[in-house]
Amino acid sequence: GQRYTAVVLGAGGVGKSALVMRYGKNIFLEQYDPTIEEEYDLSVEFGGKRSILHVIDTAGIEQFTGINESYIQRGIGFVLVFSLTQEATLKDVDHIRQEIYRIKDGDEAWTKMDLRGEREISSDRMHELAVKWGVPFYETSAKKGWYVSEVFEDALARMRKK
Ligand code: GTP
Ligand code: MG
Repeated sequence: GQRYTAVVLGAGGVGKSALVMRYGKNIFLEQYDPTIEEEYDLSVEFGGKRSILHVIDTAGIEQFTGINESYIQRGIGFVLVFSLTQEATLKDVDHIRQEIYRIKDGDEAWTKMDLRGEREISSDRMHELAVKWGVPFYETSAKKGWYVSEVFEDALARMRKK
C-alpha cells in the first residue's frame, strides 16, 4: 500500500510515545523515557485498504527548536498531543498548530488529547477549541487503550484524501 507520514508532536511527557506504542504494539509504557526520535512503519488495514503509516515520534523537549520545522515539512498528517492534566501543554499544541499552518500554509492539523488523573481542561473547552481550530480531537488513554486506534485511523483517512 501507499505510505503516509504522520508526525506526533506535543510537549515533553504528555504521552506521545505511550500513544504510539499502544497503537503500534498494544503495550503501555509505564516508565518515562524521554524520546530522542523514533520512527515506525506500521502496516494498517483500514477502510478496506492496506497502507503504510509512517509514524515519527518526536522529542517533546525539542518542540520549539528548529528541529520542529523540519518535522513539519516531512509530515503529511499531524497528531498533536497534550495532557488533560496539564493545561500548559494545551498552549503548546496551539503553538505547534500555528507553526503547521504557517509552514504548510493552511494544511490540516488534528489534535489528540491524553486522558489521565486530574482534569485541568474541560470537555466543553475542548469542543470549543476544536470547532475554532477546525480540527477533530479525541480524549484518549494510552494506559487503558481508549480511543487510540481512532486517532491514527482518522489521521490515515484524512491523509488518504489529500
Ligand atoms: P517525550 O518523549 O519526552 O516528549 O515524552 P512523551 O510525550 O513521549 O511521553 P511518554 O509517552 O514517554 O509518557 C510520559 C509518562 O506519562 C510515562 O510515565 C507514561 O507511562 C505516562 N502516560 C502516558 N500516557 C498515559 C495515559 O494515557 N495514562 C496514564 N495514566 N499515564 C500515561
Ligand atoms: Mg516520547
